[in-house]
Amino acid sequence: MKRKEFVIKMGTGVLVACSGSCLLSACSPGDDGIQNTGENTGDGGNNGSKPSIDIGVIPEVGDQRKSGRVLFIRIDTGNSTSSFVALEAICPHQSGALVYVPDQQIVQCQLHAAQYELDGDVVRGPQNSSGSTRDLKVYTTALSGTTLTANT
Ligand code: FES
Repeated sequence: MKRKEFVIKMGTGVLVACSGSCLLSACSPGDDGIQNTGENTGDGGNNGSKPSIDIGVIPEVGDQRKSGRVLFIRIDTGNSTSSFVALEAICPHQSGALVYVPDQQIVQCQLHAAQYELDGDVVRGPQNSSGSTRDLKVYTTALSGTTLTANT
């Protein structure tokens, strides 16, 4: 193999290797799981309009739906504001996604498994990760027709 051929072949190999690693790092979601992007300001993620849902999307007790940075959870039958809870949807620790676990009646982080009560209180801090978390913000809600809005 001539020197010119060698340089071309090696250059192509290096280019492919670098492209692969660059693509992998760009697609990496974080250290070990689900992570939301953006700053968690606790403002509900409203950009001029408040997060809201149609209550028809969470018809059963335990159902949940995220809108913006707010997690809406149905906690009781009926269609009054007391049938719902609206909390931060993004974990204060390192921005993991929060989901409601109905059979335990807790909200759990999908990144480091911190757990919170429905009133926002911390039940358990981050697991296998440094740092701590804080209580979640709980928003009052307003119901207009079937539209439930979080007052962020
Ligand atoms: S991001 Fe939620 S516990 Fe770490």
